[in-house]
Formats: sequence, C-alpha cells, structure tokens
Amino acid sequence: MLKLDVSRYTDQILSGENGLAYREFRDIPYVEKPVSDIQKLNIFVPLAYFHDGIVNGYDKDTAPTFMPNTVGGYMPGPRDYPGNKGYPSNSKTIIEALKHGYVVVSAGLRGRNLKSSDDKNIGKAPAFLVDMKAAIRYVRHNQNLIPGNVERIITNGTSAGGATSATIGMSGNAEYFEPYLEKIGAANESDAIYAASCYCPIHNLENADGAYEWEFNGINTWYSKVFIRDGKNGEPPVFEDRKGELSVEERKLSDELKQQFIEYVNSLNLKDDSGSNLSLNGDGTGSFLNYVKDFIKQSAQKALDSGQKLSGSEGIEVESGKVVGVDWIKYLHSITRMKTVPAFDDLDLKNPEPNLFGDEEIESKHFTKFSQEHSHVTSKVADSTLVEAVNPLTYLSNRGVDTAKYWRIRHGASDRDTSFAIPVILATALKNSGYKVDFAMPWGVPHSGDYDLRDLFTWIDKICG
Ligand code: DHB
Repeated sequence: MLKLDVSRYTDQILSGENGLAYREFRDIPYVEKPVSDIQKLNIFVPLAYFHDGIVNGYDKDTAPTFMPNTVGGYMPGPRDYPGNKGYPSNSKTIIEALKHGYVVVSAGLRGRNLKSSDDKNIGKAPAFLVDMKAAIRYVRHNQNLIPGNVERIITNGTSAGGATSATIGMSGNAEYFEPYLEKIGAANESDAIYAASCYCPIHNLENADGAYEWEFNGINTWYSKVFIRDGKNGEPPVFEDRKGELSVEERKLSDELKQQFIEYVNSLNLKDDSGSNLSLNGDGTGSFLNYVKDFIKQSAQKALDSGQKLSGSEGIEVESGKVVGVDWIKYLHSITRMKTVPAFDDLDLKNPEPNLFGDEEIESKHFTKFSQEHSHVTSKVADSTLVEAVNPLTYLSNRGVDTAKYWRIRHGASDRDTSFAIPVILATALKNSGYKVDFAMPWGVPHSGDYDLRDLFTWIDKICG
C-alpha cells in the first residue's frame, strides 16, 4: 500500500515564458493508517527526468529532493502545489525549485487545532514531526519510482515550519518517534535527511521565554498583531494591531525569566569561531551578548556594502562606511518588543505553544514549570519528555540519532517573534558539534521566509555538488 502508483501521474506545464514541464503525483497517502486526510503528499518532478534529461546539471538520479512544509503557528500545514492561491502556501518556492531542477515533495502535516470526527484533538505535538518523518520514509520507500536522490533530502520551512525543519534535521531516526510512526503505519525506512533550511525557527520553546526577557527586559511597551481567529476555508488567520504596557507582575516575571536564561546560556558551554567561551554575566551582558551583537553588526555592514541606507535611528554606529558598534538598547527600541510575559508559555494558555502541548482531550497545557507555577488558570503541565522531543537541541548530545550534515539558518535582524539568542544558540551549538552551518541575520528582514530563494538554491547546489 505504501508503494507509489505511477499510473496516477499527470503532466503539467508551468505557465509563463520560461514555462517548465513537470510531472505531478498528487494526494498520495504516505502512511497505511492515516488519522486525517491531511496525511497525504504531492510530488513534483521536472519532466526532463523521465526522458533522461538534465536540468541545471542534475539528472533523475542526482537531483536533490526538496521538501518544503507549509506549517505556520504550529497549525496544520497542508500539502501544497504550484499555483496554489490558498493559505498557507509557498507555491512560488515550489515553482522556483522545479525550475532549478529539484524534485519537490510537499507533505501535509497535522497541526495543533486538528480534530477528529468525534472531536478529539489529533494534531497535538509531536504529530507534525511524526508526519514529516513518515513522509520522508515514504519517499525513501519509493526511491526507485520517484526521480531524485534520497540521500540529498533537504527540508525547508519558516517559523513553526522552520522549527519543523530544524527538529527533523536534528532527530533523524530518533527512537522517541518509533511508536508514533508505527501506530500510523509509516514505512520502515530511515527518516534522516541531508540538510535543513530553517527560516526564523520558533523552537527551543522551553527556553524561549527566558531568551525573550534577556533581550527585551526593561522595554515595557509591546506592539503586536493580536490573533483574533483562525482563517476559514483557505484564508489567512485574522490579526489586529494592539499596543500595551507590561504590568507590574509581568515586569517582575521578566526579571526572573531573564535570570533563568543567563543560567541556561552558561550551562551550554558554547564557543565562538575562535574557541572562546560564550557566557553571560548576572546583568545579561558578556561575551554571548557581544557575539549576538556581532551578527547584527555583520548584517548592517552587509546592507551598507550593498548600498542600502540605514535609517540612523536603530543604534548602529557607523564611521567612514564601517559599522563599529551597536547600541543594543537603542536597537531593541527600534525593532520594538512584540510579546508580553511570558512570551510563549503564557499564563492564560492563549498562545499557540501551550496549545501545541495539549492532548487528545485537553486543548492547552503549560510546558514550563515556571508558567505552571505562575499560571492564571487551572492547568496541567505537559510531559517533559514530549517537550524535550520537540526541541531540536535535545538531539545534539544524543548519540543514537542521525543529524543532518548541512544547515542553513536565517533569522531577520528585525524579527521580534523570538529572541535573536534562540537561532544563534542553534547555529552555534551545531557548529560547535562539527556540523556545517550557514547562519546569517539579514538586515531589515522581519519574521518571514523564502525571501532569498536564489541564495538558498545556490547553497543547496553547493552542498549537493
Ligand atoms: C509562529 C510565530 C510565532 O510568533 C509563534 O509564537 C509561533 C509560531 C509562526 O509564524 O509560525
């Protein structure tokens, strides 16, 4: 049942002047015992690969297998296709990838608000990761029927989808997922991947509240788009602009969370490129802060060098065309605080993250001891093994897993959805463990992804060359 039925393909032509012919296989169940219609995938292959053709130097055996996901806000991420006008979709990414000679596999993944017909929750953590692994296993299972190189699988995603990509990259064949994969009838194959592309991954959730306060402590006004309701019938979710002041309670919690993060960073034994220790002092300053600021400096310098103008109000200190310093407080005031305290495991259980950690019956649970202790509502706390399993960093010190060799991580220098420290820790921990990491914080870029597909594909071509 898990063999691809190749009689089901259809040939398509991408419209436009450099239209590309491709073959597609749609709506393929990738597990034997699906619990939701979302557990299907679409495969798109440059038509040339069925006629011994070459695209961009690749042939049917060497073409990378590119697996972008559409997960956002830890909501379900449906399978995608070229020309998809609905939400969420990365249709343009698929089209560009096909033109570039990649085989594209878009798998639908369960998400936190998914319900069964009898109103049970069927998309809570770790469902999104289980499904992605099952889809990867399906592709491997059918490697003789699908063009593309299964030893060159590259995942891609943004935000919660970036976290999906990161955790998949870290947790190849991790034992934790076996019972879940068995239960849905996933193919018995490896789910390891070659490389992970992660845009602004919202991950390391149990340390993200602390990181946010390490960054924004003392900035007591927040500016946010407040989530009103989920989109219906392919529409984006509805948000409203709001602004507010942190309460006295929130300011106190902010101080405490900041201290927690300082301890966390100091426990990691991270090193910079020259092997020097990265740490934080009790007031939040120190070599780790300088290291984070250096990424912002590099970002601003790159923008200057490419002719972009800095506004002058963001605390970037420039002398004769060289960025010589960052006034951190000024910089953070310019990008502004977005979230209240705690930023992720909120005390009213209203945020996406506690909702991710609910179970079949319970909508939302706290996932940190801190928020459980300070909660404003009657609440349960999620199983700590589950919380750890969703965190890509858990697997770095786990010898039983197959971690992706190559990493590309991008986090915009104007992103306020999570602290800069979070992607910096991911990139640095990977580098320190010997993996190949391409990390940057592009100037002026807010919380978003796939904005530099040319550079992404250049990176993929280089690592697959
Ligand atoms: C996303 C953004 C967030 O700010 C968050 O807390 C979780 C997910 C997202 O865009 O996927």
